[in-house]
Formats: sequence, structure tokens, C-alpha cells
Amino acid sequence: MKRYYIETFGCQMNVHDSEKMAGVLRSEGYAEAENAKDADVIIFNTCSIRQKAEQKFFSELGRIKSLKKRRPDLKIAVAGCIAQQEGGKIIERAPHVDYVIGPQNINVLKDIITSKSDSIFTDDNPFITEIELPVDRRDNVRAWVNIMYGCNNFCSYCIVPYTRGRERSRASQSIINEIKDLAEKGYKEVTLLGQNVNSYKSNVDFPGLLKEINKIEGIKRIRFVTSHPKDLSDKLIYAIRDMERVCEHIHLPLQSGSSKILASMNRKYTYKDYLKKVEKLRREIPEIAITSDIIAGFSQETDEDHNYTISALKNIEFDGIFAFKFSPRPGTKASNIDGQLPDGIKSDRLSEILELQSKITERKNKELKGKLLEILIEGEDEKNTGRLTGRTRTNKIVNITSKNNIKPGDIVTVKIINARRHSLEGEIV
Ligand code: SAH
Ligand code: SF4
Ligand code: F3S
Repeated sequence: MKRYYIETFGCQMNVHDSEKMAGVLRSEGYAEAENAKDADVIIFNTCSIRQKAEQKFFSELGRIKSLKKRRPDLKIAVAGCIAQQEGGKIIERAPHVDYVIGPQNINVLKDIITSKSDSIFTDDNPFITEIELPVDRRDNVRAWVNIMYGCNNFCSYCIVPYTRGRERSRASQSIINEIKDLAEKGYKEVTLLGQNVNSYKSNVDFPGLLKEINKIEGIKRIRFVTSHPKDLSDKLIYAIRDMERVCEHIHLPLQSGSSKILASMNRKYTYKDYLKKVEKLRREIPEIAITSDIIAGFSQETDEDHNYTISALKNIEFDGIFAFKFSPRPGTKASNIDGQLPDGIKSDRLSEILELQSKITERKNKELKGKLLEILIEGEDEKNTGRLTGRTRTNKIVNITSKNNIKPGDIVTVKIINARRHSLEGEIV
């Protein structure tokens, strides 16, 4: 039996694309290999969001060169965002690569493995929303579902509009059919995927889509990523408030607390606009968890701008953030902005941001001690066998000490007995 090995870098979009590529390979009779050494097909599903991600991939790619030398039949494919961005240059740099497949073209995988074909697939694909591929999902309780592809926002630092192409929404009926099928298979939670879900548009808008999904029997929790603050509408806020299956969590990337920097990032909102949305979210949905992304050390960011970000973090008190040093990406506007900062300053600012947020997250978690919360059980706690792990509706991880007869997919009420920075500990009541 032939085997495949997929190594995935990057965001949930890529994780889900890898599930689709695995689905295609399985339907062609391939089994998953334990590691790259045993595989007949190796796929790297790559990410180019920051330079670090890119370097990591190229070093991995170098490492398997000797495999190809020993076994010339081995097929090596590079998929994902670096594939789209670099195209044929990847093969020039690494001739042991056979195929380069951009994120809009993963449907070609089947043809590649069944017949000899071209090697570079990076065309724009307007029909991406109509492609239905078999999916080999990694989880039995929670599932990713694409609702849109691409991005039109062109935030000045971001490579995604260049790698994922134009924004395109999938037909609501295909989305609903997929989720009904998931419900029948026993899935309890879906996470809707798009770079900016709030600009979803088909015969319905995003709140309209949520309304349809909220009716699907068996699905207990609906999540979505990501919301762009400029498009977060009152209608969506009311949808989260009123639809019982839509979870009380929103990932709303702020990026910077300085309106000057936000303008230079082309984010199309000011700090004040952002704050107003946060206030409205908390007024309408008091228990909502809000998480965010921050970029440290954007070009021309002064100490004052950085301090605005620090004040924003203190003021808003996010439940959690992802923070990154600004990484200039080739081809983006921001890579040409003067006044790039030395790495040392970026690192210092990033550390300050992470340390501050870490304290805030811990404090917010501690406030949950003694509270009764609804948990969806996801599986065994990997670090401590015998314990189970799940999440609150607000997306906080809870490890459970007492087990009884509960199993993944169950929804239970737990009392929070301990709180740490990254997780909570609960007891079934
Ligand atoms: N579409 C989503 C996610 C984009 S990528 C959104 O708009 O939020 C996830 C995060 O990576 C971004 O929110 C941003 O904080 C970060 N990021 C993107 N490009 C970056 C770059 N060039 N340097 C550093 N961080 C970057
Ligand atoms: Fe990138 Fe901005 Fe699009 Fe998000 S909204 S993917 S940050 S361009
Ligand atoms: Fe995702 Fe990385 Fe591409 S974050 S969209 S895989 S550049």
C-alpha cells in the first residue's frame, strides 16, 4: 500500500486544507505514513505569513533531499502560501521538489498522483468555492468548515491577499449541506473559516448564514474565525447574543493601539472605533471572551505608539492574544515603508506585550475560580493521561479531574477549581 506524509505549517486554513489533501490521497488508496521516511508522497503545506515560518519550511525541505536521492520515485509536493508566492522558484532552488501547488489549486492533487502532469499549479481559481473534496478530519468532535476563500483587505503588512487570491464566498447551501452531514456523523462543534468572515456574502450575509447553521440539529457549538473589526456589524453582535449555539467568543485582531500605525497598516479603523465595538460587544454579551492579534514594532512605530498598544491591552483586557514581531514580507506595501525598526527594539516591545498580557490572562482566568461552566469534552488531556480536556463556550481550555462515564463529544457542567495561565482545572458537578 502506498503512503503519504503531510507536514503542515501556518493557520487553521492550512490545517483544514491538509485534511482535504489527506482525504483525496485516502480516497485514492493511500494510507498515512508515520514519518516522511516511510512515505511515497510527501507534501509540505507551507505558510509565508512571517519570515520565520518560511525559514522553518526551507530547512525542513533541505533535510529530505537525501530521501529523494535514495528513492527517486518519491514524490515531493510543496503546497500552501509559499507555493503560491514562489511558484517555480521553489523547484529552481530545490530540484528535488516535483510539484508546486498553490492554495487555490489543491484539487489537482488527484490528477498528479494518478498520471504524469505539469508541476506548477498557481493560477487564480475563481471556481475554488465550488470544489468539493473528500476530507480526512483529524478530530471526531470538532470540524473546520470553509465559508470563504481569499482576502481583499490588503492590510499593508500582509501576504495573504497575494497567496490566497481574491475574496470568494462559498454558496450557503453547500456550507449547510456539509454541516448537516457533519452533524449526522456525530460532530458537535463547527468552526467557520474565512480571513474576514464578516464580509461573507452569498444569498445571505454572515449573520444570515449563522441563523441557518443555528437550526442544524446535533451541532451544539458554532465558532468562526476571523472577524475584521472594520466589518463587525451590530447585526453580528446581536446574532452572537441571540443564537444559542453561537459561542460567546470573538477573535478580533487589533494589531496596534496607535491610530497612526493602524492607518499605515491600512486597517481602516481607529483605536476609538475598535474600542466602541468592544464596548458594544461587552454591553450586549457580558460573558463574551475577546481575543486578539498584535504586531510589535511596525515600521515608524515610536515609543509613544508602542505605549498606546500597552495602554490598549491594559484598558481592554483581552482574554488572550497572539503577538508577533513585524516581519516585512516581499511584495507587500509595508515592506517598502521607511523607518523599519531594528530587531532588538521589536523583540523588547514584543516581550513587554507578552508579559503584560500573560498577567492579564492569568488574572482573568483566576476570576473564573468557583464558577460553573459548560464544557464540551474534546479528548484525553495529552499531558496527563486519565484526565479529560474540553473547552468552555468562551474557548478556554479546562482539564477535568473526575471522570465518571463521560467521553469526547459530551457536554458537561464543571466547577472551576483552579486557574493557570493557559488552562483551567474543573470538577464535574
Ligand atoms: N485574516 C486574519 C488573519 C491573518 S494572519 C485577520 O485579518 O486577522 C494572522 C495574524 O498574523 C494577523 O492578524 C497579524 O497579527 C499577523 N501578521 C500578518 N502579517 C504579519 C507580518 N508581516 N508580520 C507580523 N505579523 C503578521
Ligand atoms: Fe491579512 Fe488583513 Fe486579509 Fe487578515 S484582513 S488576511 S491581516 S490582509
Ligand atoms: Fe495561513 Fe500562513 Fe497562508 S497564516 S493564509 S498559511 S500565509
